[in-house]
Amino acid sequence: MLWNCESRRHLKRLGGFAPLLLFTAISSSVVPMIQNVTARIDKRVFGRLADGTAIDIYTLRNKNGIEARITPYGGTVVSLKTPDRRGRMADIVLGYDNPAGYENDQSYFGALIGRYANRIAGGRFFLEGAEYKLARNNGANHLHGGVRGFNKVLWQARESRRPDGVALELSYRSRDGEEGYPGNLNVNAVYILTDADELRIEYSASTDKTTVVNLTHHSYFNLAGAGSGNVLDHELKINADRFIPVDTTLIPTGELKSVDGTSFDFRSATKIGSRIDQADEQLRVGKGYDHSYVLNKKGSELSLAAEAYEPGSERTVQLWTTEPAIQFYSGNFLDGVKGKNNSIYNIRDGFCLEAQHFPDSPNHPAFPSTVLKPGEQYKQTTVYRFTVRKAEKKP
Ligand code: GLA
Repeated sequence: MLWNCESRRHLKRLGGFAPLLLFTAISSSVVPMIQNVTARIDKRVFGRLADGTAIDIYTLRNKNGIEARITPYGGTVVSLKTPDRRGRMADIVLGYDNPAGYENDQSYFGALIGRYANRIAGGRFFLEGAEYKLARNNGANHLHGGVRGFNKVLWQARESRRPDGVALELSYRSRDGEEGYPGNLNVNAVYILTDADELRIEYSASTDKTTVVNLTHHSYFNLAGAGSGNVLDHELKINADRFIPVDTTLIPTGELKSVDGTSFDFRSATKIGSRIDQADEQLRVGKGYDHSYVLNKKGSELSLAAEAYEPGSERTVQLWTTEPAIQFYSGNFLDGVKGKNNSIYNIRDGFCLEAQHFPDSPNHPAFPSTVLKPGEQYKQTTVYRFTVRKAEKKP
């Protein structure tokens, strides 16, 4: 299905005259209604899972030609094309060519993560006096929702239109007991590609039993283009005075540590690679950066969390979020992953900025709560905003 938002809006306004005008427009050399407007979404078949299930892929385009391809399998952003300073488009996220790649994926490329992003220590937690045991899929710990997290399920998809862009609405019902979590959880995640060059994700969820929820998105960015090498030259800025140190199994120790004087200080733009190999205990356990940053904010307003810039292309991505933290992961576990277009992704060939609550919050009463009760609404908004630096300098 091809869906041109703007022309639909015009057609609605024009009412009964629309077919006539549309015919006139198409049959003449002047195409007033459709010509300069291209925001649209279309759907095609992406391929099949091992069990034969056909998987769709949606292509969202904004009026400036930015294009996001998203599959309902895992709610995954498969590709994201943005312009460099000269207007040349490149795909800036790591991924695979077909559903089989995502079915076998161990890296969570581009996926929606849930029911709980990042780790829960020992795969267990207590809630309202009851102990819940989760899948242990990362050594002794639970990671990214378990063996079959939200990145491995098929979401229901619906195309829609927002005032500021085209949208793909995804929904999934996670059963009571799935991967060990209590409560039936209805989850919605809406991807909106706006004409302001943003990929906005609006999450919401509700439950019928008290549970824990922590959703995120796991795109690996390489602003020089996916498959073009490592991201060590990218400059990164994170609006955080504190980060969360972890133990040797990457579980928070509980401390919120000042970044002052450490290799973790990204309060001013710094190359990802400039300190990544320093002799630092936290960098050693993470094999690089794999840590949550406590954002400098008081409430849950949508605020600027981080910005990355790649000097060659001058592409920039800003991350805005309502969440209290971002996990900065420098792709340390990538090790010869076969990706799109015959690419091989190796260590640090992509980085993730995952907006979320703190890891292992269910076992840390002092951390902001991730508990969701019946009658409450979980809400989260995260925005990735794409610019080129030259454009930013213009008055
Ligand atoms: C997150 C984790 C990492 C790793 C990746 C996926 O970012 O923090 O430790 O598990 O996901 O490979």
